[in-house]
Amino acid sequence: MVGDEAMAVLKIVRMGHPVLLQKAEAVQDWRDPEIQRLARDMVDTMIDADGAGLAAPQVAVPLRLIVFRCRAERVSGAPDDQALETRVLLNPEIEPVGDEMALAWEGCLSIPGMRGAVPRPRRIRYRGLGLDGSVIEAEAENFHARVVQHEVDHLDGVLYPMRMQDFRLFGYNEELARAAQAAQEQERAAQEVAEAEARELLGAMQEGVRG
Ligand code: NI
Repeated sequence: MVGDEAMAVLKIVRMGHPVLLQKAEAVQDWRDPEIQRLARDMVDTMIDADGAGLAAPQVAVPLRLIVFRCRAERVSGAPDDQALETRVLLNPEIEPVGDEMALAWEGCLSIPGMRGAVPRPRRIRYRGLGLDGSVIEAEAENFHARVVQHEVDHLDGVLYPMRMQDFRLFGYNEELARAAQAAQEQERAAQEVAEAEARELLGAMQEGVRG
């Protein structure tokens, strides 16, 4: 990379900033150098922040532009849950396919350190323009469908907690990880007790037979 092609990391605004509640405007001309530059900087920013996606309002630009990716470690690898290279979409539109819903954990670079379980359609169809003006059309499921819906929500001023139905499934990453580990240990201990009881019962039955 040379000169003005150098990586640029933009400042990400957090929940509470009014731009995140605004409805973003359509991108008028994909050839506009400022749009090209913004998209590249947003990709750099998403990668630097270790995120799955980023929408222009999150860098305080109220335009309908999103970037996202499905990294191999975030998908199961099943036919309906594949990895995807970074994709840029201008003026994306989505529609659900079927009425099946899925509940899964989401985080947001504008709500750092937290996550929540969000119900969303499992399958969608989306359409938008690529950074070269080509039409991108795709059907998506699972993680891919979720990340696109999360990013398009940002263009309409919607943050994932506004989609949540059960606020008991909302919290700080560290606390939730600790709670999950504790629950796992408790389950293991309960299993050990059950196994000991089963052994005891089996022993008593064998003694009974012998008697
Ligand atoms: Ni977000």
